[in-house]
Amino acid sequence: MLPKAELHVHIEGTLEPGLLVRLAARNGVTLPAAGTRGRTDRYRFTGLQSFLDLYYANLPVLRTEEDFHDLARAYLVRAASAGVRRAEIFFDPQAHLANGVPLEVVFAGLSAAVEESAEVSAELILCFLRDLGAQAAEEMLRAAMPFRERFTGVGLDSAEAGFPPSLFREVFRRAAAEGLHRVAHAGEEGGPDYVWEALDVLGAERIDHGIRAMEDPVLVGRLRDERIPLTVCPLSNVALNVVPSLAAHPLPAMLEEGLLVSVHSDDPAYFGGYADDNFAAVQREFGLDEDALALLARNSFDSCFASEKDRERWK
Ligand code: ADE
Ligand code: ZN
Repeated sequence: MLPKAELHVHIEGTLEPGLLVRLAARNGVTLPAAGTRGRTDRYRFTGLQSFLDLYYANLPVLRTEEDFHDLARAYLVRAASAGVRRAEIFFDPQAHLANGVPLEVVFAGLSAAVEESAEVSAELILCFLRDLGAQAAEEMLRAAMPFRERFTGVGLDSAEAGFPPSLFREVFRRAAAEGLHRVAHAGEEGGPDYVWEALDVLGAERIDHGIRAMEDPVLVGRLRDERIPLTVCPLSNVALNVVPSLAAHPLPAMLEEGLLVSVHSDDPAYFGGYADDNFAAVQREFGLDEDALALLARNSFDSCFASEKDRERWK
């Protein structure tokens, strides 16, 4: 299996139907009617919001340190089998706080799984839910500071349209002052202007998705010249109707433009594929040869926050 880095995966989006049902039983939580549909049928979504509605509706099954540990452990085992050597994993603490789960429970469970992972070098990235607004994000960052050593950066996720990156200027400034890495979802639902803002206002070091940057040639030039990483999630984009089909995905055009793109899974339990499945899908659809796949894998390491020494070792 080709070694690679997974830089765009939401740990909550790795909650497979089997574990979902087990955790619901363990905690006496009633699942939403649609929650287990994936056991017999593929989840179907009309867009980002229809997916997020189910994603959040399933999260109340996560209650204890053990639950968060089991979720992350299961992901890391699956990731290792996909050839993942390095994983920089998003998590959404605001969603768990809203469900009454204390922050220390979330950190304890996820950190334990990360620390015991021998096969995959893993780090956590704390995401702010953009639809909860800037003040909530600032409160979240303040509350997370006692756990500063347990996460390597901050990100921005959830409903994108109507919540531009510029709203989060101050919280990203504070995160930078704490020495945290900064990434942001932009250019999935939102247009190229959101990618510009993520770079110029938030100082994002990496753009998650970013596929709509292709609509702006000046932006494409900047992304290429500055080698700004874009973490692209092909199966997610198809599942959420961000692109009409895999055949219509801009990945080949992004490679053609010389952008630093890599391929990732986003919410694999919901979108039908982990890192290896996303690689296989683009290989099949676009007839990518070994050199092109090796470039995508190399790009994933070049885009990660590990040391140069570790990156070279994994490649
Ligand atoms: N949270 C989980 N998956 C997401 C996605 N694809 N876009 C925005 N927020 C998310
Ligand atoms: Zn995402």
